[in-house]
Amino acid sequence: MSRVTTDVDEVAAVVRAGGVVAFPTETVYGLGARAGNAEAVRRVFTIKGRPANHPLIVHLASAAWLDVWAADVPATAAALAAALWPGPLTVLLRRAASVLDVVTGGLDTVGLRVPAHPMAVALIAAVGEGVAAPSANRFGRVSPTTAAHVLADLGDDVDLVLDGGPCAVGVESTIVDCTLDPPVVLRPGGVPVEQVAAVLGQPVAAVAGGPSRAPGMLAAHYAPSCRVELVRSGAEALERRATLGALGHHVDVLDLGDDLARYARELFAALRRADAERLDTLVVVAAPDVDLGRAINDRLRRAAYGSAGSARDPSEPVELVDP
Ligand code: TXA
Ligand code: MG
Repeated sequence: MSRVTTDVDEVAAVVRAGGVVAFPTETVYGLGARAGNAEAVRRVFTIKGRPANHPLIVHLASAAWLDVWAADVPATAAALAAALWPGPLTVLLRRAASVLDVVTGGLDTVGLRVPAHPMAVALIAAVGEGVAAPSANRFGRVSPTTAAHVLADLGDDVDLVLDGGPCAVGVESTIVDCTLDPPVVLRPGGVPVEQVAAVLGQPVAAVAGGPSRAPGMLAAHYAPSCRVELVRSGAEALERRATLGALGHHVDVLDLGDDLARYARELFAALRRADAERLDTLVVVAAPDVDLGRAINDRLRRAAYGSAGSARDPSEPVELVDP
């Protein structure tokens, strides 16, 4: 197993020297390397088992670094950064000429975000350079929200794991394509789309992630090994449990309730537990489709789509979300 530490400076030294580390953010744990070190970034792809054309988000210590990484910063992006950073928001911008192809998957845009976890910001500041990082899970699996999740997924493949405790938000960042005017939300996440619209002062289009715009947004993603079935209510969940139980399924119900912040925080750990308990099927009560519930249901639909016997493609048409 890779070593786990809480010493930010030790981890920063490893990253500066070209290593690959796992580190906490407020959303999920990241698998990070210096964004300017092509070899280290390539190792991130190898460890994760991720296709090379899926770009990585570059994590910055502050919005003041934007100009280093982006060719231009439209007013919409500046407004979002000012209002929502540090926080679970990623903006897509035209990349600066110096950004490596291996980071952007050859695209002419780059995803940038300033995370809110104090250890993440301290780490990036100590590295002194943007840190390119996807979520620290194997490709297609559930994102890790604790250091123990990272070790369970990646074993001893990373050079060091920075332990910052359980992630406070629990779902990944909201991705906003600011190369378009008005901007478009490509992935619902920790910042509710409603809040993005409020900052921009106008309705915002949200897509549930077409692979053409955000190459990593595959329909079958965030998938535990057990089947996931999505239902609308607790009553429906109990009915399904009875039905499947009678068929001999090892089945459980996940009903995380109405507190959306808590739901998001606990969701990925609950999906991992379902695998640990070797369930055949986890019946999940969906969140209301507003605010953080959009991100929660997006991940759940992808988890369900990855399950045997589930047919609905989660990539939905564009929806306009008012402030
Ligand atoms: O909260 C998060 O965003 C976490 C933490 C670690 O920051 N990171 C994360 O990274 O979720 P990842 O790589 O698992 O998901 C990022 C998504 C991928 O689907 C990727 O394809 C997309 O963002 N993405 C990144 N840069 C992009 C770009 N230039 N154009 C389109 N999509 C991009
Ligand atoms: Mg991911």
